[in-house]
Amino acid sequence: MTEPVNIISEENNGILYLTINREDKMNALSFSTLEELKLVFEQLMDNKSIKAVILTGAGEKAFVAGADITEIASLNEVNARKFAEFGQEIFAMIENCHKPVLAVTNGYTLGGGCELAMACHMRIATANAKFGQPEVNLGIIPGYGGTQRLTLLVGRGKANELMMTGDMIGAEEAKSLGLVNHVFPTKEEAIACAEAIVEKIRSKAPLAIGMIVDCVNAVFSQENGYQTEANSFARCVKSGDYKEGTSAFLEKRKPIFRGE
Ligand code: COA
Repeated sequence: MTEPVNIISEENNGILYLTINREDKMNALSFSTLEELKLVFEQLMDNKSIKAVILTGAGEKAFVAGADITEIASLNEVNARKFAEFGQEIFAMIENCHKPVLAVTNGYTLGGGCELAMACHMRIATANAKFGQPEVNLGIIPGYGGTQRLTLLVGRGKANELMMTGDMIGAEEAKSLGLVNHVFPTKEEAIACAEAIVEKIRSKAPLAIGMIVDCVNAVFSQENGYQTEANSFARCVKSGDYKEGTSAFLEKRKPIFRGE
């Protein structure tokens, strides 16, 4: 693995600050970005000096605007399932991390970005944050655990609405749904809030914090649902609508779906 280029990683006072750093692409999650994220979380467990992680996106416009559509526009059923399972594996590592992982979501938090934020233990949003699962516009579905985590966080009805319409919601609505813990006007204030929460957690017993992570995740354990999601995601990419949806995005036009 070469030096990370898509993630800026800085350690300060026991906190690892991770910034997804593809600002010109709205911090879209390319495959190599996911690989870098995986490496960071693999190394994190053995690093005794790091007590918590704060994850954000570079710039003011986006946390992460989804998986990189240029990379997912030419999937087949086999590699689509692997694509979904790879993302699910990394997001599960984040969710299962025994050190608190807080997302500071600044701007667009869409698709894989919303899924990434939901895999973190808490979400603090800036007032301009927008949340959504717009995969349906591309002829696919969320594939990084979104169908499961969104349903568990906001409930079945609202999750269906968000995933079926692809609509975006603002930070305050996301907070009222339980998708977001706190909202602040600026990124600086959102990060300060995340740091204050980390400071409180650091005064508690680290083993107990790890056990809370395990027990909370046990409530939400949905192994079969994740497998269904990866299989369904793979089935979507066999369709003409998937070709049409991704091509339309890349050609900057509206898609015409034919249901085939
Ligand atoms: N994958 C790859 N590139 C992306 C991207 C993604 N998910 N989201 C944005 N980008 C790129 C755009 O293609 C554009 O690149 P270009 O400058 O080379 O043309 C750049 O980021 C800026 O995006 P743009 O669409 O021009 O900005 P905007 O302010 O008009 O719209 C969004 C912002 C987030 C609403 C819009 O980019 C969008 O809908 N992105 C896709 C969201 C999505 O479907 N996510 C789920 C993917 S599975």
